Amino acid sequence: MKRHTVVAMPGDGIGKIVLPEALRVLEAVGFEADWVEAEIGWECWIRQGNALPQKTIDLLAQHQLGLFGAITSKPKKAAEAELSPALKGKGYSYFSPIVALRQRFNLDICIRPCRSFPGNPLNFIRKSSAGGSEEPQVDAVIFRQNTEGMYAGIEWTDPPPQVRQALALHPKYKPFAAVAGADLAISLRVITRQACQRICRAAFDYAGKHGYQSVTVCEKPNVLRETSGLVEEVAKEVQKSYPEIALRSTNIDAQMMWLTKNPEDYGVVVATNLFGDIASDAFAGLVGGLGFACSGNIGEQVAVFEPTHGSAPKYEKLSPSIVNPIAMVLSAAMLLDHVGETEQASRVRQAVAAVVREGKVRCYDMLRLPGGPDVIRQGAASTQQMTDAILAQLG
Ligand code: NAI
Ligand code: MG
Repeated sequence: MKRHTVVAMPGDGIGKIVLPEALRVLEAVGFEADWVEAEIGWECWIRQGNALPQKTIDLLAQHQLGLFGAITSKPKKAAEAELSPALKGKGYSYFSPIVALRQRFNLDICIRPCRSFPGNPLNFIRKSSAGGSEEPQVDAVIFRQNTEGMYAGIEWTDPPPQVRQALALHPKYKPFAAVAGADLAISLRVITRQACQRICRAAFDYAGKHGYQSVTVCEKPNVLRETSGLVEEVAKEVQKSYPEIALRSTNIDAQMMWLTKNPEDYGVVVATNLFGDIASDAFAGLVGGLGFACSGNIGEQVAVFEPTHGSAPKYEKLSPSIVNPIAMVLSAAMLLDHVGETEQASRVRQAVAAVVREGKVRCYDMLRLPGGPDVIRQGAASTQQMTDAILAQLG
């Protein structure tokens, strides 16, 4: 078996707390890897004026595999105010290192599995027709295009005259032509055929490998005729190579309604950046939310796995720490799948499932407690106790 080198990027806040927990689990299942630690995030910004140091980029380019915790990000003014005094006024400007990573390595395929673990008190339930309640098994995997669409970053307030002139070529621009620059903001939704092909193929491949009967494209082609229209066109084309998998189509707004009526009807869902962001958060809410939401950002060469949650700085300094490590642990399991260690990956997921099913060890989020130092006294497990319980299941 090939020995991998993984770039560990704990980042800020609770990223530094949960990432080492995932490493304990990976070690317990016998994942053979060398680890190199790399800096990323707010601390780097403050000290170096760069939240994504070149050294980190180089390590990822070399080893092509990353496990990432979370970073702290703040608006422009706050970023400038916190920059180390020696660097102030020298032209450093803050950018999100995650977005930069996705762009730098073209990590265009974002996979966000949203599966319910039986016994999780945070699972979605609904009234059954018999009058009681029922808990549908949610097993959705969102494929989100990660680099273009509404998040391509092409936007203006007070667009320059050339942009206005170009827009005037479109008849629908007419009502906006007289709006004053300072009162006009524009964000472009840019979609390419190549990126659509890659995300659609990835979704169909995954569906085929994991036994899903269909892939659902979640867009809005009746209104966004050009961009969502292109996605649908490509999805239809790609489907032809997967005759055993059906192509379904929902509109993002209707999907948001249906997902709480019949979430069990959805499996692999594919969407552009913004709609995929929305759909993946919505599905994640049905299966436990941020404590359970894992993800992978996958490019042609490089792949980086991370929990969906942020750095939750308000919990960083708590001792013992209270945040749920499961999202991070499940992200590490995705990394195992990615490198072909599928058996180790299923062992991790089975151990998590067993802990959740037994219900003896639950972090504060699973007990629906407001977070704070008091939760341990109220019966919540600490971060480390949760990992210990997972390790105990692994034997
Ligand atoms: P957040 O995800 O850090 O926290 C939101 C809420 O979820 C908080 O109440 C937090 O306590 C709870 N939470 C988060 N992770 C949890 C876990 N593992 N277990 C239990 N509860 C958990 O988002 P927030 O507060 O909006 O942002 C905090 C910082 O994180 C900001 O600087 C933001 O920019 C950054 N951020 C970074 C992301 C990343 O690194 N990918 C993603 C989202 C936010
Ligand atoms: Mg989001």
